Amino acid sequence: MKPARSFASDNNAGVHPKVLQAVSAANQGHVVGYGDDRYTQAAVRKFKQHFGSDIEVFMVFNGTAANTLGLKALTESYQAVICAEGAHIYTDECGAPEKFTGCKLIPIATSDGKLTVESVSHAYHGIGDQHHVQPRVVSITQATELGTVYKPREVRDLARFARQHNMFLHMDGARIANAAVSLGLTLREATRDLGVDVLSFGGTKNGAMGAEAVIFFDKKLCPDFLYVRKQGMQLASKMRFISAQFDALFTDDLWRKNAEHANRMAGLLRNQVRKIRQVKIMYRVEANGVFAQIPRRAIARLLKRYFFYVWNEEESLVRWMCSFDTTEEDVKQFAAFVAETVGV
Ligand SMILES: Cc1ncc(COP(=O)(O)O)c(C=O)c1O
Repeated sequence: MKPARSFASDNNAGVHPKVLQAVSAANQGHVVGYGDDRYTQAAVRKFKQHFGSDIEVFMVFNGTAANTLGLKALTESYQAVICAEGAHIYTDECGAPEKFTGCKLIPIATSDGKLTVESVSHAYHGIGDQHHVQPRVVSITQATELGTVYKPREVRDLARFARQHNMFLHMDGARIANAAVSLGLTLREATRDLGVDVLSFGGTKNGAMGAEAVIFFDKKLCPDFLYVRKQGMQLASKMRFISAQFDALFTDDLWRKNAEHANRMAGLLRNQVRKIRQVKIMYRVEANGVFAQIPRRAIARLLKRYFFYVWNEEESLVRWMCSFDTTEEDVKQFAAFVAETVGV
């Protein structure tokens, strides 16, 4: 029999019971739609407690929209967004950022999912040249798509570089909770205080069900965002149900507990599978993902019981993700199955 939980994605997990309870509790009577409701006001208050009272926060349904619309607010179509070649915005959003912003995305090769000032500076050229797109945004993902986490200094350096070159720093924070707890920082310390201008704040991978937000740390950057969101088809009529989820994640530090747990499970998984001779851990396990190179012949056999993604077929690289609901037992059983399978 297949196990109830797999290691494919933190998106494959269900909804945290407390989030579900909050949705159910919000399911009382009628409230005004489109965000003019007490649940949204309460959630926004909590965002402000975390990030500062002078932010603007906009709920959306998914991470692709948070990224795409956040970038749209910062750019004109003749401008460009510099990102890692493995960035979700570049590889996994079906060209939505390009379609909606009109901007060229400039992908940069990385060894560990992270941009550096040096790598970004190579892509920063053609300024003032009418034939060339004009770099306007540096977009980083925290935690990265390879399970690594930018150090505070690395983010600060990129923010400074961006500012000095008339660019903005956008952070895809689909897993910002995992990154913040990994760094031992508050959400604000991990983002705004390091110079991030716009944050895609992820709720879904942290235990919500389709709750993401775009946060602007400078209100001047989003004078028209209400319209951008609506035109981008991301204005929820029953917004209270998105907002109630954030409220739940911010209550009693549920966001932190969920992220800490998922990270700890990934650490456990790393410790278990690295004992297996045929398994090579490819990147530092700093959040909730483990990337491993395993014998090609084992992949199909493993997939028969557990669903996960092959990240790079050529390199026989697989991704194993942990979630808020992954148990120690899940990890141990999976690791034992990997050991058994690769050894065959
Ligand atoms: C790094 C990253 N950014 C953004 C997203 C959000 O994507 P979606 O539009 O599926 O919510 C994901 C989801 O897998 C992700 O891994």
